Amino acid sequence: MAHPYQVYDELRREAPVSYFEPTNQWLISRHADVNALLRDRRLGRSYLHVATHEEFGRPPEPEFQEPFWRVIRAGMLDVEPPVHTRLRRLVSRAFTPRMVESLRPRVRAIAGSLVDAFVEKGGGDLLAEVAEPLPVTVIAEMLGIPHADRHLLRPWSAEICGMYELNPSLEAQHTAVRAASEFADYLKTLAAQRRRAPGDDLISALAQIDELTEDELVGTCVLLLNAGHEATVNVTGNGWWALFRNPSELARLREDRSLLPTAVEEVMRWDTPLQMFERWVLEDIEVHGVEIPRGSEVALLFGSANRDPAVFEDPDRLDVGRADNPHISFGAGIHFCLGAPLARIELMESYGALLDRAAKLELREEPSWKPGYVIRGLRSLEVTAAG
Ligand code: HEM
Repeated sequence: MAHPYQVYDELRREAPVSYFEPTNQWLISRHADVNALLRDRRLGRSYLHVATHEEFGRPPEPEFQEPFWRVIRAGMLDVEPPVHTRLRRLVSRAFTPRMVESLRPRVRAIAGSLVDAFVEKGGGDLLAEVAEPLPVTVIAEMLGIPHADRHLLRPWSAEICGMYELNPSLEAQHTAVRAASEFADYLKTLAAQRRRAPGDDLISALAQIDELTEDELVGTCVLLLNAGHEATVNVTGNGWWALFRNPSELARLREDRSLLPTAVEEVMRWDTPLQMFERWVLEDIEVHGVEIPRGSEVALLFGSANRDPAVFEDPDRLDVGRADNPHISFGAGIHFCLGAPLARIELMESYGALLDRAAKLELREEPSWKPGYVIRGLRSLEVTAAG
């Protein structure tokens, strides 16, 4: 897990499509294949719109998981058209590049005050004190989560994400179910209040839409709140660690701030926070002569695709000025990240604030990776900071 990139090299070279028995998945490691399969409508994030678990040769889900799936499958990420199209349309207006650009001054102000406080105390855990609070505050403000409740979001999200790791333990599954239930109850109460007394926030706007069932409203808010910060936190942590390990690139960025947009894309490519996404095969497909039958599951290795030498020159090099960078970190096809424009603004503002306001930023100790493979992030990032 700490060093997946060497294994990816071997896979891409020798076995671009390979069956992996421990997880019963087909691993897809080349950029062109990952990109093509994300767009291929013969695959889906779910199969439940066309088949039952039994027809797909999968065991029925344990009953205790029902409250979890009820929440998750009501969000756009876990459904396919036509439901996906309807749900995505209802919220996409709030996330257009123009709409999120109007949030930039607020994002900049939050990033500035977080970094100032961090520098004033001489540094600390960059992850907990800057990387996390920025996207959590931004998405919580957009949805209208009261300030006093925001500390609940991060634990709920992390516990829910536990279910997405490969073969989660029974304990992790129960924790995820409990978190999803608590989160859903919390949002139902909040949405009922906003329906009665609407505010100028996304939950109020969604609560007015008759087309949206209560489950869909809850599923949409959980998705936005979780997806709205999980990966951004880790792009900040992984990216700064990447810069500390490549001091000449950090110096280059400090000297030439016009490189910030390419630098943000590059840290997202170099150590992508979401290493893998899965798809179900809804109709037989063939990849490089290998038949993958209906009912199979493919694992699209984003971390590998982003280091593919067929697409990226000198892919293992961190190059903050990389101009041609079609990384796959935001996905592709109909589920392409809805929050990409917002994530880019948050990342530019947080990297920018740290570069501007912390002239000295140094690693205090070697960080370690959190357990888990799918979500790639550090436990903490201890640094010394000075203005
Ligand atoms: C750097 C940060 C981020 C990364 C790397 C990222 C990555 C991704 C990826 C890879 C997907 C597609 C998953 C798949 O195809 O299976 C996705 C979907 C999504 N993301 Fe993000 N994301 C980030 C930030 C955000 C933010 C800030 C939001 C804010 C709301 C957000 C909201 C969503 C939503 C709603 C979807 C589902 C879209 C759909 O199913 O149509 N993401 N994201």
